Amino acid sequence: MVDDIDTISETRPLPEPDPAELRRVPPEALPTIGHIGRYALKYVIGEGGLGTVYAAHDTLLSRLIAIKTLNVHLPAAEREQFDKLVLHEARASAGLNHTYIVTVHDAGTSEQGSYIAMELLKGRDLRHLMSMGWRPTPEQAALIVRRVADALSYAHHKGVIHRDIKPANIFMVGRTQPRVLDFGIARIRQVEALAQRDDDASRFQELIGGSPFYMAPELVRREQGDQRVDVYALGVVLYELLAGRRAFTGGSLDEIADAVLHQPVRPVHEVNPEVPRELSAIVAQAMHRDVSQRHRSARRLSHALRDWLDGIDGSRPVRSLGSEMAPRRSHRPALWRQPLVWLLAISFVGLVVALVGVFWPGGVRGGL
Ligand SMILES: Nc1ncnc2c1ncn2[C@@H]1O[C@H](COP(=O)(O)OP(=O)(O)OP(=O)(O)O)[C@@H](O)[C@H]1O
Ligand SMILES: [Mg+2]
Repeated sequence: MVDDIDTISETRPLPEPDPAELRRVPPEALPTIGHIGRYALKYVIGEGGLGTVYAAHDTLLSRLIAIKTLNVHLPAAEREQFDKLVLHEARASAGLNHTYIVTVHDAGTSEQGSYIAMELLKGRDLRHLMSMGWRPTPEQAALIVRRVADALSYAHHKGVIHRDIKPANIFMVGRTQPRVLDFGIARIRQVEALAQRDDDASRFQELIGGSPFYMAPELVRREQGDQRVDVYALGVVLYELLAGRRAFTGGSLDEIADAVLHQPVRPVHEVNPEVPRELSAIVAQAMHRDVSQRHRSARRLSHALRDWLDGIDGSRPVRSLGSEMAPRRSHRPALWRQPLVWLLAISFVGLVVALVGVFWPGGVRGGL
């Protein structure tokens, strides 16, 4: 796990890895449980909606990677089209080179189906962390989400919309270090849903391919969404991180859709009084039902969070609870804006003046 250097006053550490994980022999030394392409599969990391994620050994480059298989059941006639789509989406996500986005190395089709090979991350995704009872501090949640917003802004400028932002797709490798997973997967899931048109879930999935809990109202209404669907979903994720529970609930897809479209949402500072009103207002704007009232872009959302973080950093002593890898920009005010620095500087000047008074030839003479 990456060490964090603190750029904000308070962070909560991530839970320790499972003891079983720590005892695990290096994956390259483990027996191989199967092959996909040139990759030797070592163990299952987890199951998702589309397939399985494995830790694998890249025998050619001799490195560990993660393989995500896409096990879709399609008629042979649609298979070729699907494989093309996977490669197209993988190409788009492989072109995304950003600190807060997982690196995609390779994609392909094999006898076992299509797959995506990516960087093997150490840590846990936000869904997993929250299900373990982990809660970030408001500052920590704002910084994590700000970084995801930066990653999304970068992708949007390259013409890529994620469309499936949810806690399960934000992987934490340090206490404020996110990596966005699964760019392009929403489009793939959409195609799979189209092929299985009959059931209720497929009908809903084919709208966007994403999770209904984070789906923007315009998509639920079957309108065309733009990059602001990601801003909305990220707002809903921030709500959940701060509230400790989902913004919308429902026992069926219709109930969830009704909650997303019509049910009032309790402001997050009322659910969790630890959340300052200004931060709560940013969350409410990001997840505004009316797309024209939302932050216009992921960059705008990132800036709103940055300004809020800068504001609280200036008004509170910085308490070192952790550290963070290579921050791109400090969130503390400039050195000259810190009162302690001024106090030290004035004391130093005073000391110099006093010493000059004592040791200056005139001063010494005067004392004789
Ligand atoms: N590159 C990676 N490195 C390490 N773990 C990963 C990586 N990618 C995914 N995982 C983990 O593998 C598990 C399965 O991921 P997957 O993306 O398939 O699940 P999901 O997000 O719930 O489903 P879906 O993406 O289909 O909606 C999750 O626990 C996830 O955190
Ligand atoms: Mg996922």
